[in-house]
Amino acid sequence: MAQSIGILTAGGDSPGLNAAIRGVGKAAIGAYGMHVIGFRDGFRGLMQDRTMRLSGSELSGILTVGGTILGTSRDKPNKMPVGNEVLDMTGAMIDTYRKYNLDALVCLGGGGTAKNAYHLMQSGLNVITLPKTIDNDVAMTDMTFGFDTALGIATEAIDRLHSTAHSHHRIIVVELMGHNAGWLTLGAGLSGGADVILIPELPYDIQVVAEAIKQRKLRGSGFSIVAVSEGALSREDAASMAHARTKKKEAEGEKAKGKAGARLATLELQMKDRTLNLSRQLEELTGLESRVTILGHLQRGGTPSAADRLLATRLGAACAKLIHQGVFGVMVAARGDGAEPVPLGEVVGKRKVVPLDHEWIQTA
Ligand code: F6P
Repeated sequence: MAQSIGILTAGGDSPGLNAAIRGVGKAAIGAYGMHVIGFRDGFRGLMQDRTMRLSGSELSGILTVGGTILGTSRDKPNKMPVGNEVLDMTGAMIDTYRKYNLDALVCLGGGGTAKNAYHLMQSGLNVITLPKTIDNDVAMTDMTFGFDTALGIATEAIDRLHSTAHSHHRIIVVELMGHNAGWLTLGAGLSGGADVILIPELPYDIQVVAEAIKQRKLRGSGFSIVAVSEGALSREDAASMAHARTKKKEAEGEKAKGKAGARLATLELQMKDRTLNLSRQLEELTGLESRVTILGHLQRGGTPSAADRLLATRLGAACAKLIHQGVFGVMVAARGDGAEPVPLGEVVGKRKVVPLDHEWIQTA
């Protein structure tokens, strides 16, 4: 029977992380009599043995608080920057785990965290993960916590941009987070009534976008809201990126690999200001004035929505129950109103992007 567990939060922070820490902790302590400790700043804190007591008092009053009381980092166990080097620090993490006689390590994070947890699982630790990210791109779960809050914030931003765009007869290009998955942009674009929605899954044709805006103007709407994911690309850029990525994958030998890598890096750099470029291009093609709003980390900050608090709490409680039952090496996935353990091997290496035949795309 599990007696001691550790919890860490890794990857980008997300509203609902504290609700999940609280959900796991209160159920583990209250229902199963476990001892709970937290590790600070993700896998780095586990490596450095930096802990935080998580008893009743630390778990109180955090349900509504944004961010994570444990701190987070994007550090990976097997590729950890230490001084001037990047080292495999898995051994140090195993030592910390053993030092506290842990029966399980709970890792709260997205796809990258699931991969890192899977690595620790293969190194012999009992791990269990919960899916969080505002991107909603973790495979094998209906939903991740953090997404609903970000959706609300982004939708409110689009609502507010409407009145100023309307008053000035302008285009406003609003950039939302999401390098690879367009869930947030598509969801907020639909909820906020954006006139054009551009997501990474569906490379766009700038002429088609400009034409749609011109048509709106002809129909009497002199303003347009363009919601764009930070990872959305034009068809031409998507083709160049895909080509550069294939070249990098296929490159053999140090020299060829270096050249292909440099080409990809240059392309990525050139595309860094793509939202600004998109806005400029639309000005030229439509004759309308255009402005850019980048929502950035606003989408990740602050208090979680009720839906995220509920999701994080119930997944957290389900997680404690699974640990009590001795179920490890899984992600606690959201399935309808319930929670289901999914083997980590089925989660890692996959990303849930928007399927092109998804209902939200049809609706848009
Ligand atoms: O958490 C995922 C995410 O929000 C992505 O959508 C975004 O591109 C990225 O994090 C930003 O990360 P950082 O805060 O490390 O710049």
